[in-house]
Amino acid sequence: MQKIIIEGGQRLKGEVQVSGAKNAALPLLFATLLTGGTHRVGNVPDLRDIDTVEKLLSILGARVSRQNGTFVVDSSAIQSEEAPYDLVRTMRASVLVLGPLLARFGHARVSLPGGCAIGARPINLHLKGFEAMGAQITLDHGYVEARAKKLKGARIYLDSPTVGGTENLIMAAALAKGTTVIENAAREPEIVDLAQALIAMGARIDGAGSDTVTIEGVDELRPMDYQVMPDRIEAGTFLVAAAMTRGDVRVIGAQADHLEGVLSKLREAGVEIMEEEGALRARGPRRLQPIQIKTRPYPGFPTDMQAQFMAMMAISEGTSVVVENVFENRFMHVCELQRMGADIAIEGHTATIRGCRTLKGAPVMATDLRASASLVLAGLAAENTTEVSRIYHLDRGYEGIEAKLRLLGARIDRVPA
Ligand code: EPZ
Repeated sequence: MQKIIIEGGQRLKGEVQVSGAKNAALPLLFATLLTGGTHRVGNVPDLRDIDTVEKLLSILGARVSRQNGTFVVDSSAIQSEEAPYDLVRTMRASVLVLGPLLARFGHARVSLPGGCAIGARPINLHLKGFEAMGAQITLDHGYVEARAKKLKGARIYLDSPTVGGTENLIMAAALAKGTTVIENAAREPEIVDLAQALIAMGARIDGAGSDTVTIEGVDELRPMDYQVMPDRIEAGTFLVAAAMTRGDVRVIGAQADHLEGVLSKLREAGVEIMEEEGALRARGPRRLQPIQIKTRPYPGFPTDMQAQFMAMMAISEGTSVVVENVFENRFMHVCELQRMGADIAIEGHTATIRGCRTLKGAPVMATDLRASASLVLAGLAAENTTEVSRIYHLDRGYEGIEAKLRLLGARIDRVPA
């Protein structure tokens, strides 16, 4: 186990390069299961979740090699169509093997992911979509088994715009017989990235990024050769780091059109945001202004930025409000922020944050990926020393974060816990 130690109070200045997006890389790597041959996926971030994908692809029989951010995957000889419990429970996105395996082999058996720290996170909408395409779904011993001689195109209405569900169903529909229309689809940029990669493989997809996606099934696809998009959540996290430390940071690779909700709220909080060629620059004010945010599916304010913004609100001038509409338990960072002096009250899905002048460094514990980012941000702005334990959560989604922050002037180290 390791922990991160931060001496707070440094103003962050300089430039930082965003890595490839975790939430685009995961579906893209699983999409290599859709067809044999040698696939190349570039700009893949070096993260624990990506290590899990590598393990899972190998267990299924793919030959995987990985070199400075490029994956070469030969998925010609898949021997198994089963994603085992011990991998799925560490990374629920493993359920994204369902669509590709079902579409290519007519069979997939995946451990049910179970809940996680931030919520129950069922996959009922994924399964309902597969059934609409003619798959038989059975559940036993904590595994979901899907079988279909040949998936058929279908009209699928998603009760809620699930990101993973939309991705799973697009991948399944790519090789189905006939046309699939997914209504109330999720619109995240990572879904557009996946669709662009699939189209380059020969898939016929219209409307990715809108709430209605139409997929004309084809008989077979070519191997993928694709570069993962930049990580908009990592980019947003660094913009908040600048905002909280009265810093001046240029985030290279950040794309304004993927961060509209985040940029509008940062500006409302008094942060100066400059949109430059291939980068975004943030200058933090002397005192941050209070704001209200409500998390929503894209293009609404992203739930994956909620914890980071709460750390920022904790040192804003006045009272801010956060409503978490996407997950049922995504306030795990609150009690840790309170240990650092944050004044936060929770009522159901609503948190009320009364800003204080400064937070005090303290030993705190990470509970989930974005909560751990929130605690690091709080430590950067706090007085004295903050120790963040259980940082394996952080390593799931942030590539080399302490090296990147150190380059910006942070006093931050990773030490054995
Ligand atoms: C993706 O998770 C992201 N993960 C999450 O990022 C992100 O928070 C989430 O989308 C929402 O934007 C990846 O892309 C790997 P959902 P996913 O299916 O696909 C309910 C991070 O920090 N739901 O859109 O699992 C579900 O319970 C992670 O990087 C159903 O009810 O999210 C949740 O309340 C955390 N039935 C809501 O929808 C279903 O079948 C959103 O879930 C599916 C989902």
